Amino acid sequence: MTVDLSKFVASIQDYPEEGITFRDISPLMADGQAYRQATEQIVKFAKEKGVEMIVGPEARGFIVGCPVAYELGVGFAPARKKGKLPRETVRADYTLEYGGVESLYLHKDAVKPGQKVLITDDLLATGGTIRATIDLIEQLGGIVVGCAFIIELQDLKGREKIKDYDTLVLMEY
Ligand code: PRP
Ligand code: HPA
Repeated sequence: MTVDLSKFVASIQDYPEEGITFRDISPLMADGQAYRQATEQIVKFAKEKGVEMIVGPEARGFIVGCPVAYELGVGFAPARKKGKLPRETVRADYTLEYGGVESLYLHKDAVKPGQKVLITDDLLATGGTIRATIDLIEQLGGIVVGCAFIIELQDLKGREKIKDYDTLVLMEY
């Protein structure tokens, strides 16, 4: 039996700012069956792509990516915000949806040259985060074979930034 995943997304009006409807996946993660179902859909996509490594951006990319990595028996590397990774890193900058500039970092040995990498995150909005994560992996010589999200916010046109990459989205808003 499958569940309707959209029933496990909470929509919050005017958060974090007036005029924004925030899509929150925490009810999906809190339900064992919904979380497993979402994970299994991403695992299937990853198997088709021959994924050897998973990278997820802080923080919700970890929640989506780690169970997929565990199920596949491959590794997971976190792409983290400033000051969190203790060893040598590469860096990529991006613009935030609500204004400002942020940076993401990956340990230099997180991805091996030629390794087939899947990026996971909860949500695709403007695409700044995924684009920065792709840049980090490519700086290290990794091959991004796919991007997987639970939710895409279509109006924000993030898809235009990742046209050249195979993308799985479980729900569109
Ligand atoms: C959110 C979300 C995605 C990103 C999507 O993370 O989890 O990673 O924004 O937006 P974009 O497509 O416009 O880049 P956030 O930066 O809020 O970090 P958090 O998970 O640490 O809260
Ligand atoms: N929900 C969760 N995270 C987000 C959103 C949203 O609507 N927009 C940008 N990051």
